[in-house]
Amino acid sequence: MSASTVRALLADATAVLAHADAGARFTKPALASPASKRGRNELRPCEDSAEARREAELLLQHALRADRAWLFAHADDEVAAVLAGQFRCYVSRRATGEPLAYITGRREFFSLDLVVTPDVLIPRAETELLVEAALEKVPRDTQVRIADLGTGSGAIALALAHERPQARVLAVDASAATLALAHENARRLGLANVEFIESDWFAALAGRKFDVVVSNPPYIARGDAHLEQGDLRFEPALALSSGADGLDAIRTIARDARVHLAPGGWLLFEHGYDQGAAVRDILAAHGYAHAATLRDLEGRDRVSRASRASRDGARAMLDQVGQ
Ligand SMILES: C[S@@+](CC[C@H](N)C(=O)[O-])C[C@H]1O[C@@H](n2cnc3c(N)ncnc32)[C@H](O)[C@@H]1O
Repeated sequence: MSASTVRALLADATAVLAHADAGARFTKPALASPASKRGRNELRPCEDSAEARREAELLLQHALRADRAWLFAHADDEVAAVLAGQFRCYVSRRATGEPLAYITGRREFFSLDLVVTPDVLIPRAETELLVEAALEKVPRDTQVRIADLGTGSGAIALALAHERPQARVLAVDASAATLALAHENARRLGLANVEFIESDWFAALAGRKFDVVVSNPPYIARGDAHLEQGDLRFEPALALSSGADGLDAIRTIARDARVHLAPGGWLLFEHGYDQGAAVRDILAAHGYAHAATLRDLEGRDRVSRASRASRDGARAMLDQVGQ
């Protein structure tokens, strides 16, 4: 068997990636659970040889512009030298820890195929919980106004726009490069019910009102050891950390969302597994009602939501917190 058949390339790459993992070039979490501030996949890229094999297949699919079925059907085909070289280059990059999504330039989120670059956070599977929680608050076939603060690749805004075509979604980010990519993702996916604005949270949104405000903001504490591990090492700092306890962005958004939410409107955050109680406290301090935290499939706090009280209740609560 030649060293450059599909089968041989996959076998070699699987060994390289599994070995890279065993050699701790990927920093594995010290704790089994909670493993990370942003999910465990990015910290355990090849936690066993099955995962190494899966990644090798994805990288070969990317190099050959082929799907998985093609790889199996053509396992004994010879791969052209230039493509084999390209594939080995991808494998080396992955073996030094570069995130798979930055190598392939793609990540699926809520069944949408998104382009991702190192300008944006790689959308995480756990953020789908935030989308599901927001969808519960957005009736079908109504012109609900939604804001996604810190849109990154556009993952949340585009998933909501896709699931609720009647809704009008505003995607906000402080990074122009990020916003350009989100806009491009919307164009590729043919989603016309999304608007994009560069803004420091609500700063450029004076006078705008929303029925639902959703955000997966940066929420890792400055200096947290996880920032030096796994995918986080490669992702934009602006997307990751927020103040000494990680909660600065959530505090700012919770404070300012009160004047941008319609009475009875909902505010929803993703946050770290250990921040549920603190986020509920922030929401309560700003007079929101019905604060609750939702858990992911592993039972960890992940999303908190609350509603702006009705007009009279809101006034009374704003008075209480001196605003
Ligand atoms: C954790 S990432 C979330 C990206 C995307 N929503 C997702 O879930 O994959 C946080 C995003 O907030 C943006 N961001 C950080 N500070 C901001 C600010 N002051 N105003 C607006 N966006 C900000 C970052 O650029 C980044 O895209």
